[in-house]
Amino acid sequence: VHRRTVLQAMAGTGILLTLSPGFLLTGCDGGVKATESGALGLDSEEYDVELNLRATSDSVPILPGAPSEVWRYRVELLKGPESTLSENPDSYLGPTIRLRRGQTVKIHIHNELPEDTTVHWHGLHVPSDVDGQPRLPIRPGETMTVGFEVLDRAGLFWYHSHAHGEQGGRVGFQSYAGLAGLLIVEDDEELGLKLPIGENELLLVLQDRTFTGTNELVYLDGGMGAMMDRMRGFLGDQILVNGAPPATRKVATRPYRVRVLNGSNARIYKLAWSDGRPVTIIGADGGLFENPEDKPYATLAPAQRLDIWVDLSDSRLGSTLELISGSYEAGMMGGMGMMGNSGLPAGSQFNLMALKVTESVDTAETLPVQLALERKRIPITDATRIRQFELSHVMMQGFAINGRRFDRTNVADDERVRLGDTEIWEFRNRTPMPHPMHVHGLQFNVIGRDANGNRRGWSGLTQGLVDSGWHDTVLVMPGETVQFAMKFERFDGLYIYHCHNMEHEDTGMMRYFQVQG
Ligand code: C2O
Ligand code: CU
Repeated sequence: VHRRTVLQAMAGTGILLTLSPGFLLTGCDGGVKATESGALGLDSEEYDVELNLRATSDSVPILPGAPSEVWRYRVELLKGPESTLSENPDSYLGPTIRLRRGQTVKIHIHNELPEDTTVHWHGLHVPSDVDGQPRLPIRPGETMTVGFEVLDRAGLFWYHSHAHGEQGGRVGFQSYAGLAGLLIVEDDEELGLKLPIGENELLLVLQDRTFTGTNELVYLDGGMGAMMDRMRGFLGDQILVNGAPPATRKVATRPYRVRVLNGSNARIYKLAWSDGRPVTIIGADGGLFENPEDKPYATLAPAQRLDIWVDLSDSRLGSTLELISGSYEAGMMGGMGMMGNSGLPAGSQFNLMALKVTESVDTAETLPVQLALERKRIPITDATRIRQFELSHVMMQGFAINGRRFDRTNVADDERVRLGDTEIWEFRNRTPMPHPMHVHGLQFNVIGRDANGNRRGWSGLTQGLVDSGWHDTVLVMPGETVQFAMKFERFDGLYIYHCHNMEHEDTGMMRYFQVQG
């Protein structure tokens, strides 16, 4: 009944909330005719892709036994190629949305939840008003329509909640409850490389959860344990891959493309192959590297993505290769795994996926030596300034950026940048924990990191840090200073930057910055 009410309210009604150049953003609160326009120069009918997205509650089987109550995205294709959506039928995850660079997309977001929500297009270069930030909440029962053009090069992105209530952030809770999904951008350059597709492209969303004996999801449940969990970030005692316990997949003697998102609230993975072969990385958050890179293992922090190539051509029939998360010593706060709700310590070792070779095929597919060339690194010499941010801990409050904590849309003087500028941002981590720092609305190049200090027990992850290519989230280890370059192109307005440890973000390690036109 509730759902019908929302959809009916949407039909032909709406009130214009904001209109940023070229893009439309309408909200609906009944009775007022919607206005739609924009410098995209498109009528509603002219969008390439149109989707209905509902944030709703549901009950989904996750573990054997009773189904679990979740919040999830349901998406319906109103217009566009069939291939735009691939459902994850048995999973709480939203369907994988597959877009082409250059497409124009319009999405009607319906909030069927009992609290405010938003949908953030993590990593996409979109105008600030469609970016799904906390300042633009969708109230329960309301609908917001966003439109944008896909400007990014090919890559693996994702969509998730970005709500922030009066009492603090709700990103951790809402994502944990299930509000997340993958978003893939394709383009001609990448398609031209003919990388493995279809069943030879394995998409993995890594998350950790804790359940009660009757399969109810457990998040922070108050008390001292919850306080520790907030400080360290929530760690679950059950690893889920695509919303289910890790499983075995049947594969053939051929190469595979494994694309991984760390969709966990706080857990950092140390990805490795069980037979000790190096991890061949071909891309990260913002798409393919110029050349493949081998690492003994790959460190993957919350919100980061990795594109991995694995060749099973020489594998014996019947053999199994496991993708594992290796163990590491998780210094100070990370080691407090036993104190909160979580049974699985931060750096413990576990299996993520087993690839069992059951078929022998002949293929000439090999890893291209040259992957992507089109998007060149940002010339550092273009940078007009180095902007410094210190990550610290404020007693009795939580983590802070330059001593400040999230304060609605408040922007300090040193958080204003000029549209068109190239800048170097420098994060210094003065805390005993790693922080995956994320900047909204663009991709950057990591210039370097300097671990002058010691990494306080976290050094078991250092060799796996992936800094090549394009990123929207960079892991800043304890004691480290990390610099990256970015260019503020095309869109002005209010964006946010924050730690993507969702409990850190929710408790205030997040700020707005302003791109001034
Ligand atoms: Cu996935 Cu503000 O981010
Ligand atoms: Cu953090």
